Amino acid sequence: SAALRQHAAARGKFIGAALATGPLANESAYRDIAAAEFNQITAENAMKWDATEPSQGRFTFTGADAVVDFAAANGQQVHGHTLVWHSQTPGWVQSLGATAMRAAMREHIAQVVGRYADDPAVVSWDVVNEVFDDSGGMRTSFWYNTLGESYIADAFRAARAADPDARLCINDYNVEGINAKSTAMYNLVRTLRQQGVPVDCVGFQGHLAIQYGFPGQVQQNMQRFADLGVQVRVTELDIRMVMPRDASKDATQATYYRDTVNACLAVTACAGITIWGFTDKHSWVPDTFSGQGAALIYDENYRPKPAYTAVHDAL
Ligand code: XIL
Repeated sequence: SAALRQHAAARGKFIGAALATGPLANESAYRDIAAAEFNQITAENAMKWDATEPSQGRFTFTGADAVVDFAAANGQQVHGHTLVWHSQTPGWVQSLGATAMRAAMREHIAQVVGRYADDPAVVSWDVVNEVFDDSGGMRTSFWYNTLGESYIADAFRAARAADPDARLCINDYNVEGINAKSTAMYNLVRTLRQQGVPVDCVGFQGHLAIQYGFPGQVQQNMQRFADLGVQVRVTELDIRMVMPRDASKDATQATYYRDTVNACLAVTACAGITIWGFTDKHSWVPDTFSGQGAALIYDENYRPKPAYTAVHDAL
C-alpha cells in the first residue's frame, strides 16, 4: 500500500518529519524512508540560532541548506524551525542589552528568513517558540526579561517583512488539549491578530507520553484556534513510553497516533502533522526524558511499528 505522503496528499494534508543532519548525511535507510514517506520536512536543529548565527553577524547555513536541498530534491516542503526561542540560542545574544538585543533579533530574522524567501521549498516558519510557562503565564526567558512581551509582535513583523509569502507560526508544547496554557495561547493569538500582528498559524508540538493519557479535547482546541482565522498544525509529534517497550504499550501508542491524525483530519484548518523524527534510532526522547523512549513510528532498525500502521490507516 502507498506511502504516508500519498495518503496525506489525497486528504489535502501534509505528513512531515523532523530530520537531523548527521543521519541525513550518513545513512541511506534514513534518507530513503524520509524521502518516500513524508512530504514536509522540519530541520530538527539545523535552523536554530546556535546553528545559523553562532557569533554575531556570522551566519552559517551548511546544515540548514542540506535539509532544504534534500527536501527540494524530493518534492517536499520545508517548515522553518525556529527563529526566536530561549533555548539553543548563543550566549552572545543572551547577554545583550535591550536595544542591542531587539536589533539582533530583527537582524537574525531578516537574514535567516531572507535566505529562503525566494526558495519555493520553504513555506512557513516557527517565528516564536515556547513563549509560555506551564501555567499559562509568559515564560520568564531572557527575551521576556530583557524586552518584555513586545518581542513577540516584533518578531512576527520582522518575519513578514523578510518573506511576505511565508506562513508565520507560534509554536508551543502542552497546548494540544484545552487547558490553562492553551487558553493563554488562544488569548495571545486573538489579541495579536486584533492588533494586526501577522500571526498566520498555531503549532501544537505534540510531545505526548502514553503514561500521562491522551490530552482532552484536541479537536475542539484546534477548532477554536481555527475559528480565530489561523491555520493550525501538529509540529513535533512523538509519543513516548516508559521503557522497556512492549506490545501493549505499542498498541496504546498507536491509538494516540491515530487519534492525533483523526483530530487534524476533522479540522479543515489543520494543515498537517509533523513527527519529531521517524525512527527510534534517532530521537531526542531518551536523552531528555530519563527511562523513556520508543516514541516514533519506526523502530531503531527502521522497521515500521504499530504506530506507523495507525498513521497509515487513519490517513
Ligand atoms: C530538540 C531536538 O530534538 C534535540 O536534538 C535538541 O538537542 C534539543 O531540541 N521543542 C522544540 C524542539 O521546539 O526544537 C526541540 O528539539 C524539542 C522540544
